[in-house]
Amino acid sequence: MEISAKTPVYCVIGHPVGHSLSPLMQNRAFAAAGCDGVYAAFDTADAKGAAAGIRALGIRGASVTIPHKVGIMDFLDEIDENARQIGAVNTFVNSGGKLRGCNTDGQGAVQALAEHIAVSGKKALIIGAGGAARAIVHALKAGGADPYIANRTPEKARLLAEDLGAQAVSMDAISGRSFDILVNTTPVGMHPDTDAVPVPESALVPEMHVMDIIYNPLRTKLLTKAEAAGCHVIDGVGMFVYQGALQFSLWTGLDAPVAQMRQVVYDALKF
Ligand code: ATR
Repeated sequence: MEISAKTPVYCVIGHPVGHSLSPLMQNRAFAAAGCDGVYAAFDTADAKGAAAGIRALGIRGASVTIPHKVGIMDFLDEIDENARQIGAVNTFVNSGGKLRGCNTDGQGAVQALAEHIAVSGKKALIIGAGGAARAIVHALKAGGADPYIANRTPEKARLLAEDLGAQAVSMDAISGRSFDILVNTTPVGMHPDTDAVPVPESALVPEMHVMDIIYNPLRTKLLTKAEAAGCHVIDGVGMFVYQGALQFSLWTGLDAPVAQMRQVVYDALKF
C-alpha cells in the first residue's frame, strides 16, 4: 500500500513510546486488511498539545499510553460509557474534529481469555489494583464473570472492589482457594526483575487459567510456575493484540486481522 495525500494517519501518544510495538502491529493490520492507513508514534509529555495537534492535523485516531490515559480525558470532546466507568482512555477516534475517548484494555484482556475459557460464570482472581486491574475487572464483570481482587496494599483492593461491584480478597487468603482464572496485572516479573512471582505457588492449582499481562519477557516466571502446576497459561501478547484489534475496528469499522497482528508482535518479541 502506497502512502498518498489521502492516506488516513493514526498514532500513539505517550512518554516514552520508543519501545512501543503498536506501530509495527497497526501498520501490519492496515497492510493485511488492504486498508489505506499509516500509524506513527509521537513521544510527548504534553497531552493537551497532542489533542489539539491531532484535531488540527486531522489525524483520524490515536492510541493513548502511559502517562496520558487519565489526563487526556480533559481534552477530548466525549468519553464513551465504558471508558467513563473505567476512568481512563486508551483510544480515541477523531470524527470530523470531534474526539471521542474509548477504552479497549479490559475487553482486550477478556477476548484473550475467551480464546481459552468462556469467562461467564467463572471465578476470576485479579492480582493488583491499579489502572490495568480496573479495566480488566470492569470487562470481566460485563462478561458475566465473578471477579476477586488481591493486592499488596489491601485497602486499594477493597476500594476498587467496592467501586466495581467485585470482591476483595487478602493476599494471604488466595492459596488453596479455587479460582477458574488468575490474571496478573502488576509489574512483578517484568524485565529486569524476571525471577519475581506475584503469587505464592500454592495459589496455582491444576486446570486454572493463568494469564500474565506482562509480555516482556514473554514467558514470565509466573507462567513457568503455573504450567508446572498443571495450569493453562496465557501470555501477555493476547491482551496487547486484542486491545489493538479493537482499536483498529473502532478507527476503520473493519474486522481486525488478528492473526497477522499477533504474528508480527511475536516475531518482534522473539528477536
Ligand atoms: P497500572 O496502571 O499499569 O495497572 P499501577 O496503577 O501503578 O499500574 O498499579 C500497579 C499495581 O501493581 C498496583 O496494584 C501495585 O500494588 P500497590 O497498590 O500495593 O502499589 C502493584 N505492584 C506494583 N509493584 C508491586 C510489587 N513489587 N509487589 C506487589 N505488587 C506490586
